[in-house]
Amino acid sequence: MKKIWGTAKPTLLITLLLLVAPLRVVAGEVEVLHWWTSGGEAKSVAVLKQLLEKAGHKWKDMAVAGGGGESAMTVLKSRVVSGDAPTAAQIKGPTIQEWGDEGALTNLDAVAKAGNWENLLPKVVSDVMKYNGHYVAVPVNVHRVNWMWANPAVFKKAGAKIPTNWQEFAIAAEKIKQAGLIPVAHGGQPWQDATTFESIVLGIGGADFYRKAFVDLDSKALNSPTMVQSFEVLRTVQQYTDKDAPGRDWNLATAMVIKGEAGMQFMGDWAKGEFTAAGKKPGKDYICMPAPGTAGAFTFNIDSFAMFKVKDKSAKVAQNDLARIIMEPEFQEVFNLNKGSIPARLGMSMAKFDDCAKESSADFVSSSKTGQLVPSMAHGMSTFSSIQGAIYDTVTAFFNSDMSAKDAAAKLDKAVQGAK
Ligand code: BGC
Repeated sequence: MKKIWGTAKPTLLITLLLLVAPLRVVAGEVEVLHWWTSGGEAKSVAVLKQLLEKAGHKWKDMAVAGGGGESAMTVLKSRVVSGDAPTAAQIKGPTIQEWGDEGALTNLDAVAKAGNWENLLPKVVSDVMKYNGHYVAVPVNVHRVNWMWANPAVFKKAGAKIPTNWQEFAIAAEKIKQAGLIPVAHGGQPWQDATTFESIVLGIGGADFYRKAFVDLDSKALNSPTMVQSFEVLRTVQQYTDKDAPGRDWNLATAMVIKGEAGMQFMGDWAKGEFTAAGKKPGKDYICMPAPGTAGAFTFNIDSFAMFKVKDKSAKVAQNDLARIIMEPEFQEVFNLNKGSIPARLGMSMAKFDDCAKESSADFVSSSKTGQLVPSMAHGMSTFSSIQGAIYDTVTAFFNSDMSAKDAAAKLDKAVQGAK
């Protein structure tokens, strides 16, 4: 018997190997272009890398620093123009359509069908992921942009109340200033100015006005008394930032709130990723509140990876696996726990998420029913990039000069109409 096994073993092994061989994963490489370089962001993207490697593939990281992704998009353009597209790139919103028009994106319908994406994504999300009715991108999350992050110890020290509207904001900010602390942690970069501004517009004008201005690009809304008032509030906010704000990265601004140097920051919930990475707990070490005047409304910002056409067969296998993994519950949960966002996939348990994420999830659903779910202008969800750029330019020019609010609204309308 022993002898039989002794001779049979190698043959058996070879037979087994031959049987298994066709089922083996063809290891491929994916090059992934993204701009997740802060502490919380890096922790989040590492989850995707690990899962892809677990599936037997190689991850080539192409991280381009710069919050909001402007630099990453510049690098992407030059890579594609020179015929060297990455396998996947962090591209969002209408910009996906622009890349579709270029004929650069690949069809993911087979992966989507196998993974039942059509039933697992809210329509507001799946619409963005398709070009001409075909899946070309896959969503990792839903970020809420209209948040305010506050340090309760700073407010306590200043005897200030956490504001729920922009009048209360001005009162609280003055008290914090009097207490010798920085009221608003801000980084003076165009995308951060625009992030703050869109929350102000939502808080002052409401969701319908926001939509008229930043989705319909309606001249009457852009150059209106409500827009003038919004710029006036932006001026107030700017006056409560510190002298070192120009050029500061967003995560360094978040660190000021974490350390108790500043009272509040207006930023999307990727800021929560920084609090989480620093071991801070919501409700205790920090407070998440909808930006003043925006409770019940939700500016959404969906991060997604668009997939480029690849020639190599093994790279295609790896690319499909990447798309599949992104939509799986394991990734959607762990990534979003780190990132500060909520899963894009429907039906996920929120049990492991904190109260900020639970609030975000509930408000995402309720705002879609009340008409208060709006796409983020500052994060490329509401317009093509050329129009977004025109808005950025005006808001930043206002932020960094003594331009009047009235002139800014007129200039905004002119810039937007000119970019159409
Ligand atoms: C992206 C986030 C990112 C943030 C800061 C946003 O546009 O959607 O994923 O964390 O920029 O870089």
